Formats: sequence, C-alpha cells, structure tokens
Amino acid sequence: MSEAKRLAGEKAIEYVRDGMIVGVGTGSTVAFFIDALARIKDRIAGTVSSSEQSTQRLRAHGIEVLDLNATGPLSLYVDGADECDTHKCLIKGGGAALTREKIIAEASEKFVCIIDPAKRVDVLGKFPLPVEVIPMARSLVAREILKRTGGQPVWRDGVTTDNGNIVLDVHGLSIVDPVGMERELNQIPGVVAVGLFARRPADVVIVGGEPPILL
Ligand code: A5P
Repeated sequence: MSEAKRLAGEKAIEYVRDGMIVGVGTGSTVAFFIDALARIKDRIAGTVSSSEQSTQRLRAHGIEVLDLNATGPLSLYVDGADECDTHKCLIKGGGAALTREKIIAEASEKFVCIIDPAKRVDVLGKFPLPVEVIPMARSLVAREILKRTGGQPVWRDGVTTDNGNIVLDVHGLSIVDPVGMERELNQIPGVVAVGLFARRPADVVIVGGEPPILL
C-alpha cells in the first residue's frame, strides 16, 4: 500500500507550478509528496503546512513554511484522506490534523487529494468520522452526536491536536448525505471542525497505482 501512496504523492507534483506557494496536508501519503517536493524546492515560493508533523518534515528538507495569514489565498493544496466517495467528498482527520487541513482546503483554489485504492468507498462512514472538540465540551458534544446521528462517539484517548483540543471518532455511520451531516455537526457548540470534507470536496483525486488513476 505504501507503494500506491508513493505513486500518488509523486503524481501530485505535476500540479505544482513555478513560483507557487503550496498548501501541504498531513499523513503518510503526503510524506511522499513532501519528499518529491524537496526535489523541486528551488522552483516554489514556499509552503503552508497543515500540521506540526508536516512542518517538521518540510523544514528538514529545507523547504520554507509560511503563515497562511501572510500568503493570502493559495493556488494549490495537496492532502491525503481516510475515505473518498464517488463525488470526491472525503473523511479526513485520522492524523488529527483536520481543522488546519480544512482551513487550508478552504483557502485554496485547487484541492488535489492523494489516496491509495483502499480509500475509495461508495458511502462514507466505515472509517470513524473524526470531530475536533474543545475539551470542556467533550461530553456535551458526544451526547449531541449520538442524538443527532445515531453514531457512537469514541474519545481518541491520549491525543491532543495541534490546537490543544481533543478528537471524538464517530463509529457506525453510513453517510448518505455528507453535506447535510457536515452542516448538522457543525451546529453543535464546542465542535471546532468535522472531518467531513463535503461542502468543499476535493477537485481532483489521484489514486496511486501503475499508472495512477485521476478522478
Ligand atoms: C490527517 O489528519 C488526515 O486527514 C490524513 O490526510 C489522512 O489520515 C490520510 O492519512 P494517510 O495518508 O497516512 O493514509
């Protein structure tokens, strides 16, 4: 599977243009993209990173990491996903970086999602849906999620996000209306971000393989 991730990460380099500031996601597939980006680092103007983990890897390669507030809108965002449906709606957040990922996706003109074939699904929800939550609202949000979706929220024990929050993973969902579910969960006070990328899905999905498939 890591070969498929590498092929997807390397294919995404074709979307990088000279002088670009590139939005960079988080995860093992993105790690391959970062390594490929390092080979052309002199051709880009820098990056905006979605996590401390990616920032470390970028800086280790000598790639500049910039503040989104200073860059303004981005042309390109490259990130992985935990699940991807036929409409390019995604579940993300397995690496707990969903909030910053969502911010950068929103700020970007083109979102290129890089996945291995196992991430493709007809209906989202088999992968537990991550929700980033303000710590004091943990129980409230868990009760509301259960009431509103029927899904079982499970506290990702021992995990604190880069923003100092906790993550609830919602099990047992079958998400037939991803936009509606994203909107509903976003209403709950204490929810920082929902790992459903449906209102702003990917624009292009690269499924790693020989050759890579574009959706
Ligand atoms: C990080 O929070 C996630 O959204 C990742 O993009 C997702 O978990 C994919 O990770 P892998 O590329 O490691 O499978």
